[in-house]
Amino acid sequence: MESFLIKGGVPLHGVVEISGSKNAALPIMAATLLTDEPCVIRRVPNLSDTRFMAQILESLGARVKFADGTLTIRAKKIKGYADYELVRKMRGSICIAGPLLARLRKARISLPGGCIIGARPINLHLKGFEALGAKIKIEGGYVDATAKKLSGATMFLGGRAGSTVLGTANVMMAAVLADGVTVIESAACEPEVVDLADFLRAMGAKISGAGSPTITITGIEKLHGAEHGVIPDRIETATFAIAAAATDGEITIRGARADHLRAVIDKLNEAGVSVEKCGANLAVRRKGKLKPSDVTTLPYSGFPTDAQAQMTALFTLAPGISIITERIFESRFMHVSELARLGADIEIEGPSAIVKGGRPLSGAPVMASDLRASAALVIAGLAAKGATQVNRIYHLDRGYEQMDAKLRKLGARIQRVEEK
Ligand code: EPU
Repeated sequence: MESFLIKGGVPLHGVVEISGSKNAALPIMAATLLTDEPCVIRRVPNLSDTRFMAQILESLGARVKFADGTLTIRAKKIKGYADYELVRKMRGSICIAGPLLARLRKARISLPGGCIIGARPINLHLKGFEALGAKIKIEGGYVDATAKKLSGATMFLGGRAGSTVLGTANVMMAAVLADGVTVIESAACEPEVVDLADFLRAMGAKISGAGSPTITITGIEKLHGAEHGVIPDRIETATFAIAAAATDGEITIRGARADHLRAVIDKLNEAGVSVEKCGANLAVRRKGKLKPSDVTTLPYSGFPTDAQAQMTALFTLAPGISIITERIFESRFMHVSELARLGADIEIEGPSAIVKGGRPLSGAPVMASDLRASAALVIAGLAAKGATQVNRIYHLDRGYEQMDAKLRKLGARIQRVEEK
């Protein structure tokens, strides 16, 4: 297993290029199953998660070519049965269910379990499929969805934490080939849902309202191949902006979308960090001392849960008390005990982390537990005095393209080493 060895205390300076969004790319890759014609997807980040999704598509019968960030996929003849072991490994793979159901009227997929950040049920995905007329059976660890016919319907997809991102994506993909009109109420408004809708529209689908809580889909008979460029990764952007702020650096983020990051920019401003749009770039720099604040994670356009751990790391450096409340995933605080190894003072009270910031961090060996927790540990390591070893960075490689190389270009002293 590999680790990052970081010698902290170096302010980041320079230009960083943002990759395509992982969470937009995964459902878009799944959507290529909706047509027997070739699709070309540009700006796909080369990550273990996207390579893994490519493997799943191949296992279903699709031909996949991945070169220089461009994926060419042709799902000419496919089967509706996904290998248990493959699907089980990545929760995002649940979004093949909608396209399989739409194209073949059947999908058999292993039930994704919970994970370290929370229970992660799929009841809302299944509720949507049922509303379209599918019969659902859960047996032997599998979800079996079958439908003689899919018919458009009006449905409410809100859950206890608000909307569901992949649930909205899944039902939207099932509805594009259904008979009649589907209306999804309480749909997720995330930019990744909009990007998927844009790709589906390029394939010929009739969708309106994506990006709002009401999405309307008018089913059509057949979709065709299409070409699409994936949106920039807003969470990678947030991660680099926070890293620059944590190290008191000054960076330019190239190819980012400020309009996807309003909540993050607002909270960075409150914390004393300037984020300015200069053409297609974002310029990030600290304005003196960091200030404490409060953050509550919410569905879009609220503060994203995927940037919560990184923001927690930043607040350990802001003198005073900051409160971070996690409203999307109940156990997404695995980074807290590891940040404590670097000297952070954080207490968990129900869904909130209370950060008593301002104590200097000092390097230590720490363990990554999930993707975003890993990013938080890297940020803390970059700001800490001395050496930090972040172990198990395979979590980080699932969602950040060449993070170590990008950080080195910004002046960070970070090396990938074999875990001892
Ligand atoms: N939920 C239900 N029932 C469902 C589905 C979700 O109750 O059927 C609940 C979840 O338990 C959670 C909330 O609804 O409390 C929101 O979950 P959502 O379904 O939106 O999450 P997701 O679609 O499975 C995607 C991202 C996550 C990101 C969340 C929230 C992908 C591949 N994953 O997951 O990304 O945290 O949306 O924005 O798009 C990450 O990149 O690190 C990551 C975990």
